[in-house]
Amino acid sequence: MGYQTVYDRSMSDPAAFWADAARLIDWDTPWDQVLDSSNPPFYRWFSGATLNTCYNAVDRHVIAGRGDQAAIIHDSPVTDTKTVITYAQLQDQVARCAGILKSLGVTKGDRVIIYMPMVPEALVAMLGCARIGAIHSVVFGGFSSRELATRIDDAKPKVMIAGSCGIEPNRVVHYKPLLDAAIDLAAHKPANCVILQRPQEPGTLTPGRDLSWAEAMETAEPADCVPVAATDPLYILYTSGTTGQPKGVVRDNGGHAVAMAWSMKHVYDVAPGEVFWAASDVGWVVGHSYIVYAPLLLGCTSIVYEGKPVGTPDAGAFWRVIQEHRVSVLFTAPTAFRAIKRDDPSAEHLARYDLTGLRALFLAGERCDPDTLNWAQKILGVPVIDHWWQTETGWAIAANCLGIEQLPIKPGSPTRAVPGYDVQVLDDEGEPVKQGDIGRIMIKLPMPPGCLATLWGNDERFVQSYMSIQPGYYLTGDAGYMDEDGYIYVMSRIDDIINVAGHRLSTGGMEAVLASHPDVAECAVIGAADQLKGELPVGLVVFKSGVNRDKTLILKELVDLVRDQIGPVAAFKTVVVVDRLPKTRSGKILRGTMKAIADGKDYRLPATIDDPAILDEITAALSAIGYAKHD
Ligand code: COA
Ligand code: AMP
Repeated sequence: MGYQTVYDRSMSDPAAFWADAARLIDWDTPWDQVLDSSNPPFYRWFSGATLNTCYNAVDRHVIAGRGDQAAIIHDSPVTDTKTVITYAQLQDQVARCAGILKSLGVTKGDRVIIYMPMVPEALVAMLGCARIGAIHSVVFGGFSSRELATRIDDAKPKVMIAGSCGIEPNRVVHYKPLLDAAIDLAAHKPANCVILQRPQEPGTLTPGRDLSWAEAMETAEPADCVPVAATDPLYILYTSGTTGQPKGVVRDNGGHAVAMAWSMKHVYDVAPGEVFWAASDVGWVVGHSYIVYAPLLLGCTSIVYEGKPVGTPDAGAFWRVIQEHRVSVLFTAPTAFRAIKRDDPSAEHLARYDLTGLRALFLAGERCDPDTLNWAQKILGVPVIDHWWQTETGWAIAANCLGIEQLPIKPGSPTRAVPGYDVQVLDDEGEPVKQGDIGRIMIKLPMPPGCLATLWGNDERFVQSYMSIQPGYYLTGDAGYMDEDGYIYVMSRIDDIINVAGHRLSTGGMEAVLASHPDVAECAVIGAADQLKGELPVGLVVFKSGVNRDKTLILKELVDLVRDQIGPVAAFKTVVVVDRLPKTRSGKILRGTMKAIADGKDYRLPATIDDPAILDEITAALSAIGYAKHD
């Protein structure tokens, strides 16, 4: 069956389509309804059914004879270690981890926050939660204590599971002190913390609250899988919203399992037993979906890579991993390939490795520039597939579904809507735009299984953020267009979200931090184009009148403040002082115009601008720091 036939079937009879896909999953009890549409926009998949996600990702493969197959390969150039964990070993570890949680009083529906580097124990912890129906929330290690505290207060975890440290090529990340500081800052206090003591920097355990992972695992009573409702939450994953308060995306168990398993086969064209590598981090949605759940649900081997595309030790690192572990399909962000291309433009490292097992490269997380896609395709000689998705959907909205039919690749486009997604480009009035015109990219409800069920503890924000602008449609927050072949082009965000090295960040959140500095009267943060990371945040600040401290010192304080309050992941290193910010007559800061100036692009003078002369001042300030250059 070709793409069009499969897509049409998913649109004409979604219930039959997804009931068919659901055969990839083992259910404890069957559903009453495939799709419960009784309470829009809260659609529920497989209501009435029960299952256990961990059973499907681990135990059933052992029963089916995959016990000796590698489930996880941890490859860590930063610690110079490699570890293979078979499905049988994973089952034992996950059951013990679930046992630790049970012994700490964690039961179905309780939350557990996981704050860990790229180690297999992070996956064990996630699956351990799923095993007993606890809801995990993984927080990326590049976030600060304050960001972690915000998530603790929102999710109210009973237990935290953390690594004692993370290892970045240039430094050790002090996870344990960051964790302690976050718990101090948070109003909610988790009862216990389970700490994976890493030899590079063991943490100091707080008596009565903290346990050592290794000791607890040794004595833990293995726990069995607990059936949960398909509609029960599996996890919460926080992502940047348009305010400083992150959005807690809630994923269910049943729809998620079906979408993950189906996508492995039909989007990525991977079969059970094959090695799949998502070079991302478990703290991001890509990591949740394609390092942990999807590969394991299908019975594949998943690579957990603790390193970078360059510098650990060189730009051949990815090729080494692909060869050594016989990776069939690689998934990463375009930034990783831009970094490799920058260090090794003629791909000389490649000559040292045999990559004949690699069938395809998938890229996502940010817009993929055609240059990067063409370069990757040229050096690897396999299809390079740009695909578009977001934390909220949990899996691809648009892709070239290699497991169905490879469509022609058009660099710059993530191809066509994935079966299950009714993608439409609408104008401000909710009318479809003309073909080729840019508009809001929306998804007609219901969305397929696996997409967000709601925002944690905040149904109202879920409706208001995504469902209110055009009733009956989900607002992706991206703007773009569709061509005559139905190919989607995702061009920009319509909100204040920027994408730095494939990491999603809110400029509003950074502005709130800058504004909290006593010397700052006003500020704006824009995402300026960057050759390596796609975008980089640039701050523009107006000092309060009378401020006469050393300007360089204040600017350093501002950079430090963002690093301290949001985290190193914000990559906020550039801030300039200006006398005033350009605004409309109603007082709205013209961020889009400043971004166009920074990127050296032509822009139309906004009709409502208060004082056009300010734009010359902004141009001068940005060009003094290397921006605002026309090609
Ligand atoms: N824990 C703590 N700190 C982290 C971290 C983690 N897990 N991950 C990144 N950081 C830190 C980095 O050390 C860096 O700190 P620094 O300012 O002290 O140098 C900062 O956060 C910014 O990190 P990053 O934007 O990743 O930049 P980088 O220079 O370290 O690496 C790339 C650049 C391109 C090599 C890297 O971003 C990369 O591999 N990206 C592509 C893949 C990817 O993971 N995408 C995610 C979604 S698919
Ligand atoms: P995140 O939720 O962190 O995965 O970020 C999702 C956002 O990243 C999307 O809404 C897009 O703005 C952007 N994005 C992800 N993948 C792509 C892609 N293939 N092309 C263009 N933008 C993308």
